[in-house]
Amino acid sequence: MLKLKILLGSTRPTRSADLVAPWVLERASAHGAFDIEVLDLRDWSLPMFQEHLGTIGDFNDPTYSDPVVRQWNRTLKEADALLIVTPEYLHSVPGVLKNALDSVFVSFALRNKPLADVGYSSGIAAGVRAVEHLMHIAIESEMVPLRDTVIIPHVATAFDAHGVPVDPMTDIAMTVMLDDLAWWGALLAQGRAQGELVPGAFRMRAAMAAIQEAS
Ligand SMILES: Cc1cc2nc3c(=O)[nH]c(=O)nc-3n(C[C@H](O)[C@H](O)[C@H](O)COP(=O)(O)O)c2cc1C
Repeated sequence: MLKLKILLGSTRPTRSADLVAPWVLERASAHGAFDIEVLDLRDWSLPMFQEHLGTIGDFNDPTYSDPVVRQWNRTLKEADALLIVTPEYLHSVPGVLKNALDSVFVSFALRNKPLADVGYSSGIAAGVRAVEHLMHIAIESEMVPLRDTVIIPHVATAFDAHGVPVDPMTDIAMTVMLDDLAWWGALLAQGRAQGELVPGAFRMRAAMAAIQEAS
């Protein structure tokens, strides 16, 4: 079974995330490929990002500015795959979600792992711009963002009384995305097990240092 972390990107009281998340969890559990942990940012009182070399200590086992940041990095490092449920705030992701992703600092906890996105909003935009931003963030986190996503417009009326999406396409999109996530999750787990390249930033620095040393 692949270890899947489902990350909820909204924390405010009355959040619409509570309409979306139970369905996401039910569908991901029913898929059969995943051993799931839900990471609700309400349960993670991460400080506003404040890491620097002095808070890291040992790069192989960073301490960070606060034990919760260390635990956050360790928890994400366990994952084989990540699924983020995000609303759209100001054409992007909520700050609390960006802060949580910034807080994955120098641990490379998300590297070479697939990311699936569920976006939603109260209007017609359906969280599309948040999802697009998240893909950019994922690339810099060295994740593999999936092409197939789930987007939910008019979230307040998107689910019936049983929590089932009223638009059948929403359910179909979830099936496609979960199948992709399982495929990429297995493939990348195998790749990581076979051995990963040293992060590109470190290789660049080493190559530059070699040039400087030689001159
Ligand atoms: C700060 C803020 C900014 C928002 N910006 C957008 C936006 O850019 N585009 C959009 O479609 N909806 C926007 N919305 C509407 C949200 O998508 C909608 O309120 C959604 O339910 C928020 O999810 P949540 O209740 O789980 O936090 C915004 C809402 C808030 C609170």
